[in-house]
Amino acid sequence: MIVMTLFAIAGCERKEFVLPPGDKAAGKQEFLELKCNSCHSVTDQVEHAPLTPGAIHVELGGTVSRVKTYDDLITSIINPSHRLSRGTNLMTTTPEGQSRMPVYNEIMSVQQLIDITSFLEPTYQVWVPPYAVYQYP
Ligand code: HEC
Repeated sequence: MIVMTLFAIAGCERKEFVLPPGDKAAGKQEFLELKCNSCHSVTDQVEHAPLTPGAIHVELGGTVSRVKTYDDLITSIINPSHRLSRGTNLMTTTPEGQSRMPVYNEIMSVQQLIDITSFLEPTYQVWVPPYAVYQYP
């Protein structure tokens, strides 16, 4: 019993994975080839190119209040409904509460995933809200 508990704890601790470094320029190219820009612009890098008028537009990159880690981005790409950054609303989610982002797992190679993530990661900047200490008389 104790041994099993220890295994369970050890299992939870190690969840990170490490992928080889990607090629940012190739990632940008693949982002365009896979038409990710039909729903996304990327701050200062890629314009939104909707395929139909009124299509979804979610900006990637730019200033965020919390670090977008490599793992966050990979998760968003291979499992789009895992965590919805905009909550449920009919622009970005279906009435069943699933992300409207298609699942690319059958189309995208692992190399493309690595390159696209390397391209997107540095486009995010973290903004830390100013910290005010209030003095009460
Ligand atoms: C049909 C529209 C559509 C296409 C095409 C699409 N996405 Fe998305 N994507 C979305 C929507 C909608 C969300 C936001 C869901 C949410 O988190 O609320 C999203 C979220 C994301 C996020 C997380 C953003 C964040 O702020 O957390 C990443 C990263 C992302 N997409 C990458 C990609 C990549 C890479 C491709 C191309 C392989 C792609 N998307 C293609 C609709 C799309």
